[in-house]
Amino acid sequence: METKIWKVDNFVDNSENYPQIVDAAALLRDGELVAFPTETVYGLGANALNGEAVTNIYRAKGRPSDNPLIVHIGDMNQLNGLVEVIPELAHPLMAHFWPGPLTLIFKKKEGVFPDSVTAGLATVGIRMPDHQVALRLIRESGCPVAAPSANLSGKPSPTTADHVYEDLSGRIAGIVDAGATGVGLESAVLDITGEVPLILRPGGVTIEQLQAVIGHVEVDKGLLKGEEAPKAPGMKYKHYAPKAPLTLVDGSPAFLQSLVDEKRAAGLRVGVYTVEEHKDLYEADNILAGGTLKDLRTVAENMYGVLRQFDHEGPDIIYGEAFPHTGIGEAIMNRLLKAAGGRVIKEG
Ligand code: TXA
Ligand code: MG
Repeated sequence: METKIWKVDNFVDNSENYPQIVDAAALLRDGELVAFPTETVYGLGANALNGEAVTNIYRAKGRPSDNPLIVHIGDMNQLNGLVEVIPELAHPLMAHFWPGPLTLIFKKKEGVFPDSVTAGLATVGIRMPDHQVALRLIRESGCPVAAPSANLSGKPSPTTADHVYEDLSGRIAGIVDAGATGVGLESAVLDITGEVPLILRPGGVTIEQLQAVIGHVEVDKGLLKGEEAPKAPGMKYKHYAPKAPLTLVDGSPAFLQSLVDEKRAAGLRVGVYTVEEHKDLYEADNILAGGTLKDLRTVAENMYGVLRQFDHEGPDIIYGEAFPHTGIGEAIMNRLLKAAGGRVIKEG
């Protein structure tokens, strides 16, 4: 299959006719797979009401079938037909964070979604992306859009259309290309079906931001200790990983450099994943910096692109700096720990 590319402006004007979006939306409605930008990462969309289309998402990505998809909506009215109840708590959350990088888990309305969307669960994850192109595409298609990140399963999520093309060309009908995404890592997933709101995946909306709006929130214990299974099925898999094994280093640049020196002395090509202010401190085979410690949002924005770049540079191993767990740092470290398969070396 030849994968079409539709180039559009990042901020489409609603008054204008965008034939590219009309074209992409028609394919989506008809059951084809179309990748599109959101404010977090590129998504691989399918009509969420079409079981065969949704099954094709799993095939194209090589995704385990027990990992449910997030359903994307284009306006608030769409929600009513998809969920059983809208809990009280959902209202302030939607008012503050939608459109935006927050996925809410609701009890699903029976008989609406094919089983492949929810992987057979009684709940469904829904979000409204904060991206004009995504919203326009979803509205134009007239259907709720099931979309995981548009990468091959296990690889870093795509933050540009090129990343999507690299992973999925020939496997999907098309890619709507509106340039780089903004946040750079995925939405936070918050389960609001229980007594206490539970974070199943840290993400674009931070824990601090959620607490400021709804007070007490808890974090899924399966994320913290790795003793019980995480409640979001997707969080149990190794993910986001470059080809060369990544190890995180919780310590000073000098300590990280000592680890690099050791491996290079043993004949290995060593990559270092760092930030702008530290990049000149290292001597290694591939030194890639993304963002600045002064604003961790810039680290999030660049993280997946840098992890992918290592695949092109081809080091044997990678050492990466660890980040503070505050704000978006929580989501950054969640993804990096997965990319590193949990490997961390602590100084001292
Ligand atoms: O920012 C994002 O959320 C991106 C963009 C494209 O919207 N999408 C995304 O989808 O990250 P995906 O499929 O890569 O991750 C969805 C996560 C998985 O960990 C999945 O297990 C979890 O959400 N999830 C989805 N539905 C769920 C449900 N009903 N209960 C628990 N976890 C759920
Ligand atoms: Mg993903």
